[in-house]
Amino acid sequence: MELTGKVAIVTGSGRGLGLAYAKELAASGAKVVVNDVDAATAEAAAKEITDAGGTAVAEVAAVGSTEAADALVARAVAEFGRLDVLVTNAGVLRDRVLWKMSDDDFDTVIGVHLRGTFTCARAAARQMREQGDGGRLILVGSPAGQRGNFGQTNYSAAKAGIAAFARTWSMELARAGITVNAVIPVAATAMTETIPALQGYVEKMRAGEPMPAFARQALAFGGPEDAAGLVAFLASDAASDVTGQCIGIGGDRLSLWSHPQQVATAYAEGGWSADAIARVWSTTVGAEPQSVGEKLPEPPAN
Ligand SMILES: NC(=O)c1ccc[n+]([C@@H]2O[C@H](COP(=O)([O-])OP(=O)(O)OC[C@H]3O[C@@H](n4cnc5c(N)ncnc54)[C@H](O)[C@@H]3O)[C@@H](O)[C@H]2O)c1
Repeated sequence: MELTGKVAIVTGSGRGLGLAYAKELAASGAKVVVNDVDAATAEAAAKEITDAGGTAVAEVAAVGSTEAADALVARAVAEFGRLDVLVTNAGVLRDRVLWKMSDDDFDTVIGVHLRGTFTCARAAARQMREQGDGGRLILVGSPAGQRGNFGQTNYSAAKAGIAAFARTWSMELARAGITVNAVIPVAATAMTETIPALQGYVEKMRAGEPMPAFARQALAFGGPEDAAGLVAFLASDAASDVTGQCIGIGGDRLSLWSHPQQVATAYAEGGWSADAIARVWSTTVGAEPQSVGEKLPEPPAN
């Protein structure tokens, strides 16, 4: 993918998926502003990219606030003169079931993911609109946001909100030629290595063993680098007409997620009373309720 001349910001790119995105964008010719709240990983990531012949600078900031978002965009403009691509990847987890979740657990996750995506995208959209020649907002959702996930009140709400951002902003920014999509990744990172169903595969990966085809395909589970090609594609001119989409990536699997829509309707002239709904519920709109949560396939017996 040819990204020479383009300038990108990748938030939370000190390690994991963000680092893989930043490396791929730089390897494709983009100049990259690496960001992380962790200064050491941010600096190391920028060095890794420049050592490999790419162009990168590190901007250490805790994504969430308007100040951090403005500083990131200002750094891109100060160093490289413009901004073409923003990848809002920074993220944290504070998993608890609803009744055990503290205000701080909730606010932290909403602050980094939802507020951070909003503030960074707003700053980037202002800069891109001023430049007047389009741009790319590449947001980061999660299967948890698409389907819900046990123990992830804060995270699933933030990620569902990010999918909603992609839909709304793709409409608002279409005239400016700015595309907005959400990547829905799956990958072995610090964030996923403690998930019991995936631990065996993470250990295999660490031991340098090949990931079984079942994991790479049915679970879409691979390394962070497996998700990076999608981000480079979305950043490129080849994806200039791709917008408003939630696109799954991981292991060997690329997928398109559906957006919610009404799947069953019923009409009552004059409106619906509670009794009327109760009478027809199971034979009309309630006949096939929607499922929740991701149902991971069982591994093959061996
Ligand atoms: N790994 C997966 O399977 C998976 C699945 C779905 C979604 N995601 C999403 O992908 C993104 C990257 O996740 P990952 O798995 O690479 O996790 P990770 O924990 O390895 O990396 C996240 C990075 O973000 C940084 N960060 C945290 N808060 C920050 C802040 N306020 N400002 C700047 N940087 C901050 C961390 O320091 C870390 O370097 C996250 O948004 C995550 O929710 C990951």
